[in-house]
Amino acid sequence: MRVRKAVLPVAGLGTRVLPATKAIPKEMLPVVDRPAIQYVVDEALEAGIEHIIFVTGRNKVAIEDYFDRAYELETTLQNKGKDAVLEQLSQSLLPAGAASFVRQQAPLGLGHAIWCARDIVGNEPFAILLPDVIVKGKPSCLAQMVGAYDKVGGNIIAVDPVPEERVSSYGVIEPVERDGRLIRMSGMVEKPPRDKAPSNLAITGRYILQPEIFALLADQGKGAGGEIQLTDSMFRLMEKQAFYAYEFEGAPFDCGSKLGYFEAVLAHAVDNEDIADGARELVRKLAAGL
Ligand code: G1P
Repeated sequence: MRVRKAVLPVAGLGTRVLPATKAIPKEMLPVVDRPAIQYVVDEALEAGIEHIIFVTGRNKVAIEDYFDRAYELETTLQNKGKDAVLEQLSQSLLPAGAASFVRQQAPLGLGHAIWCARDIVGNEPFAILLPDVIVKGKPSCLAQMVGAYDKVGGNIIAVDPVPEERVSSYGVIEPVERDGRLIRMSGMVEKPPRDKAPSNLAITGRYILQPEIFALLADQGKGAGGEIQLTDSMFRLMEKQAFYAYEFEGAPFDCGSKLGYFEAVLAHAVDNEDIADGARELVRKLAAGL
């Protein structure tokens, strides 16, 4: 069955970038000219996703408003004849009925957030995109994964090599065998200490999973950090179903951290058709002064 739905967990508090996220969701922080979440939604749409399920929380209504119509603003722009701006604005609109919002009432972990979407996903394969991570890639990271999924089916998670000193910030896989970009695994572990990590291949925040994950999430105990971890349930699902890691082509940026966010802004600025020349010149100037 085709992957039609994607779950975007957006309930996180954004504590790593406070106070910037005190009054606005971290997903709404701008990366050049669009909020971070727009890049992730675009990635999902490019991969053929037809329905986006946002798992939200208190203080996240800005996300819901962002993907909706803004009548006053649109009318004002129309009256002023600002057609180009109107056109840009329309890029943020999701088709009618193509978005659902469900609340995670308490921050119990990523596994719990995904479980909150179980009724809306139903009994079909689905994607997960963690909006903290923006991936620059052509085709998009999820589109590459859907391409692989169409051939092998099962469950697929994106992985990316990270420096060894950073493995303890991620879910990490234990690779067994490689076939091109697809990797067969014997295990995965959430946030291992550096000396216990089975590899340096980190789970990057893009997943294609079968709906059987929900039953496992339902009785999943607390794991790393005292939270209900998606990785722990995926490890259990591996015993029952085909499960692959996929080393995608592209550059991931962790916008949940200050440095990652800065990198994302920089990488997208030097690539943005309106400001690329100026941004490159600026980077050169700044680098010369260091
Ligand atoms: C989550 C996942 C982890 C993954 C990471 C990617 O962790 O639990 O497996 O490697 O996202 O960004 P978090 O960053 O939410 O702690």
